[in-house]
Amino acid sequence: MADRLFIFDTTLRDGEQVPGCQLNTVEKIEIAKSLETLGVDVIEAGFPVSSPGDFNSVVEISKAVTWPTICALTRAVETDIRVAADALKYAKHKRIHTGIGTSDYHIRHKFNSNREEILERAVACVKYAKSFVEDVQFYAEDAGRTDNEYLARVVEAVIKAGATVVNIPDTTGYCLPWEFGEKIKYLMENVKGVDKATIAVHCHNDLGMATANTISAIRNGARQAEVTINGIGERAGNTSLEEVVMTCRCHKDLGIETNINTTRIYGISRKVSSLMNMPVQPNKAIVGRNAFAHSSGIHQDGVLKNRESYEIMDPKDVGLDENSILLTARSGRAALKHRLSVLGIELTKEALDKAYESFLKLADHKKEITDDDIMMIAGRHHMANHRIKLDFLQVTSGVGVHAVASVGLDIAGEKFEACSSGNGPVDAAINAVKLIIRRTMVLKEFLIQAFNKGSNDIGKVHMTVEYDGGLYYGFSANTDIVAASCEAFIDAINKFIK
Ligand code: KIV
Ligand code: ZN
Repeated sequence: MADRLFIFDTTLRDGEQVPGCQLNTVEKIEIAKSLETLGVDVIEAGFPVSSPGDFNSVVEISKAVTWPTICALTRAVETDIRVAADALKYAKHKRIHTGIGTSDYHIRHKFNSNREEILERAVACVKYAKSFVEDVQFYAEDAGRTDNEYLARVVEAVIKAGATVVNIPDTTGYCLPWEFGEKIKYLMENVKGVDKATIAVHCHNDLGMATANTISAIRNGARQAEVTINGIGERAGNTSLEEVVMTCRCHKDLGIETNINTTRIYGISRKVSSLMNMPVQPNKAIVGRNAFAHSSGIHQDGVLKNRESYEIMDPKDVGLDENSILLTARSGRAALKHRLSVLGIELTKEALDKAYESFLKLADHKKEITDDDIMMIAGRHHMANHRIKLDFLQVTSGVGVHAVASVGLDIAGEKFEACSSGNGPVDAAINAVKLIIRRTMVLKEFLIQAFNKGSNDIGKVHMTVEYDGGLYYGFSANTDIVAASCEAFIDAINKFIK
């Protein structure tokens, strides 16, 4: 019989630490509910002591989700642990995730301490967390670069102190798959009482080896994988949920099964990408746009004769519905509703009406509406509640003429207008917005991306604006990239002018 691998999802904690990926509580609840339907065992909902927003999200997710365990992160600090326990008070199944750095880099440079003192702190934080909840997970930060003998002592001591799960993170994404596998094997063979806890792994992707390291650890006895949707996370990201789950499914010889309903993978991948404004690279394994696209003649011929010639999994298994109806300007509300539900989005009748209106407007400009467009439409209403909204925008630009823009803003119901020139249409439009807002703001980052392909595509704009020493992120998407840029700038402004 296959062994059960527990899936611990940290999209809402490690994933959400990525600059520009921050979510509000409502969005986090939406993702948490989708994670529950997907079948994850544990949801790491946040780091409650880090901000009132994170605290509140853990509280609300605890209320909204029923069967997965809700986990809250802490440092090995008593206040963190008390605050985490408080944030988890409504969770049906709760876990505190506490820990400390165990590599000599962390011990010497981060804590200015020594191995014995860190060992004592590790035991103390587990005991303290245990006084609030039964289920305590300990992480040995930078375990990937921690000496195995010392790591085994720490793991043994925290299990003795009551840890139910011990997490071995490759925090810096440094390890090689066989080396990381050896580390887990060493712990399984040398830690007394290792059978009393679950060994978990949490890998980062700095060298592109997060999934390989996780699988190697599983082969050697790890039974909890810490993952994120689309592999989002700090720097190069975390291990991706879809890669680990589908690897276990494709390689039956691993003898591992999970509780994941794989047909929900594609929908949640789109949802996370859209809500976090984080595009999925086209060649991303499992969920990238090209993951199942065969373009070379030889491959197409092979797949037509027998799918298994070039495909190791059926796209339907990950929720990619090849026979999905193409949405165009002639599609009805029911077709849009169906497509949204395939993508894991249920809208109220009112929201569906609004989304359908936006859909028809977009379909006037684009021949075929893709899933990314639909996710964008469904998520677009976040701008509807902004205090400052773009009322109108008119731009004249071209070769051999000055770009000039007229902008109208609606600020809490009052109308303002300004006109300005610039070195291009975006610069002119932003200068006009600045004339109305009259604050010193500096555009620090400006990124335009096409969603798919074709000159009728939607442009996504990401911006970072500096104001009064703080950095504020703005996003928009529109078939008109000057309008998208202007809206992204206004989106960022709404974050500091309330
Ligand atoms: O990467 C890491 O070490 C972490 C820990 C806090 C688990 O995210
Ligand atoms: Zn991490």
